[in-house]
Amino acid sequence: MANKLVVGNMKMNLSYDEIEEYIDRMQGYQDCIICPSYIYVPYFIDSGFTTGVQDVASYDNGSYTGEVSAKQLASLGVKYTIIGHSERRELFNDTDALIKEKIIKALTNNLKVILCVGETLTERENDQAKKKIADQLLTDLKDIDNINDDNLIIAYEPIWAIGTGKVPSNDDIDEIISYIKELTNKEYHINPKVLYGGSTNDANIKELAQIKSVDGFLVGGACLVPDKFIKIIEAVR
Ligand code: 13P
Repeated sequence: MANKLVVGNMKMNLSYDEIEEYIDRMQGYQDCIICPSYIYVPYFIDSGFTTGVQDVASYDNGSYTGEVSAKQLASLGVKYTIIGHSERRELFNDTDALIKEKIIKALTNNLKVILCVGETLTERENDQAKKKIADQLLTDLKDIDNINDDNLIIAYEPIWAIGTGKVPSNDDIDEIISYIKELTNKEYHINPKVLYGGSTNDANIKELAQIKSVDGFLVGGACLVPDKFIKIIEAVR
């Protein structure tokens, strides 16, 4: 189970004081990828963390109030961007077409992409999980010819498992992750790392880390608490 990737998605959390304390407490554990709010990115980079962001603009530059471009992020030293998180898809209307544009901008500027996919509870109950994920992958990555095993990571995040304390069984996670690997190999001739995300915490990480097909974890709530996040990082080192 060694050497799985750990990515922290901090979402819209923590004040400046809390971030200073967080960085202090995380010394020695910079081997995760941390995705804070944009405003905190330079503090994490200066403290030696591999740093990502939670979203990126679909435009190069110009009059797009409130947006942050891949070029700006790369110029700061950002290495990764999450794209297509279910919260962006649901709350901010990030469509598959928009997600595709964001992926293109990220890759053009040498940001690595962590593309999130996953099904709702209703889709799972109706045996539509694989169909939903296939639809997302086949649209989001269509005709992007510069994706490879190094610049693309897929994160499988069942929407019903995010922030709920509910986690699929290891067999169910393995089935979907293996399906994603088969699909990306068949359709795009690539073998990207595939992460699991959804209520991963310090109590279930040892169990989840047993799943051989899982290459790492995209952690939300538990990454905000250094004691918990450190346990997760240590469990997969
Ligand atoms: P939780 O770990 O809080 O369930 O969040 C998962 C997530 O959305 C990470 O992107």
